[in-house]
Amino acid sequence: EIPETGKVKCTVPSNIALVKYWGKRAIQLPQNPSISFTLDVCKTETSIAFRKKETPNKEYEFDFFFEGEKKPEFEPKIISFFERIEGYIPFLKTYRFTIETSNSFPHSSGIASSASGMGALAYGLMLIQKEINPDLPEEEMLQKASFLARLGSGSACRSIEGPITVWGSHYQVYNSSDLYAVRLNSDEIHQVFKNYQDTILLIDKGQKKVSSTVGHNLMHGHPFAEQRFAQASENLTSLKEALVKGDVDTFIAIVESEALTLHAMMMSSTPYFILMKPNTLSAIEKIWEYREATGSKICFTLDAGANIHVLYPEQEKEQVLDFIKNELVVYCDNGQYICDKIGLGAIKL
Ligand code: PMV
Repeated sequence: EIPETGKVKCTVPSNIALVKYWGKRAIQLPQNPSISFTLDVCKTETSIAFRKKETPNKEYEFDFFFEGEKKPEFEPKIISFFERIEGYIPFLKTYRFTIETSNSFPHSSGIASSASGMGALAYGLMLIQKEINPDLPEEEMLQKASFLARLGSGSACRSIEGPITVWGSHYQVYNSSDLYAVRLNSDEIHQVFKNYQDTILLIDKGQKKVSSTVGHNLMHGHPFAEQRFAQASENLTSLKEALVKGDVDTFIAIVESEALTLHAMMMSSTPYFILMKPNTLSAIEKIWEYREATGSKICFTLDAGANIHVLYPEQEKEQVLDFIKNELVVYCDNGQYICDKIGLGAIKL
């Protein structure tokens, strides 16, 4: 007998790819494996209240609130997500849902909220599944949450667990899959990457110029596509080795190359796009100068936008934050940046 009514609540963080996912095939399957740091501070909190419908029907019934306000404009996205996951979640048409969600990061910060948002919705639904079926093993529950999150937004599948996850089958990660992300065994990761820091420079808080759906599609027929997919797999091999050995120099070389390659793919697509801003380039130059001058292990990565993720070991935190305040804040929109770090994934509240 399934419960009449109930409520679940969770947080799911964002993540930042080290080897990028760019290019997909149906349905939401990656053209190449990717690996990411799960974040900690940038996250979405979602609660889902559920109540059995009085008269069963074939509709999805839900109310959606974002930061306390009803947002009908989000409904079509949720409906298409529900349609996609219908076959895997038997109770979607049994209940009427009240979904309330909010982000820890500022609304228009240029930080994509699809990974944490879709991650939290997927994990919340699995918490309901767990109430219906308390015997569901934890590992299976996490895997299925990642699977559902992927159907919402590809990279969201990497946010359910942490601190480092891999999505896409790759011969070196024995349990990897195109269908969901898996966590790398933390015991294997070198100490230097524990508590790795990510300070996000908000260079441009505007709306994304290219949606990721459009972006992924630009890889169909892209002249460099096959080479790029092969390169991503090779980079994952080397990066994983660097994470195990604590080889930060190799880490830096791969992570920065991956960021620039992602943007190079967009610059060489038809149509083409430049998603960096002059301040993105200025900040990158400063980061390189600082590394050269001090021997710091600071590096950068980018998403499909102008903002910069500055990555560095925890032991350098004080110096790097001084450097950011003194030299990089001038390139940030309104001087804004967010101090984040590597984190553990979904939390049930
Ligand atoms: O999850 P999507 O479809 O929004 O794709 C995001 C892709 C990048 O953020 C640019 C790279 C990645 O691997 O996260």
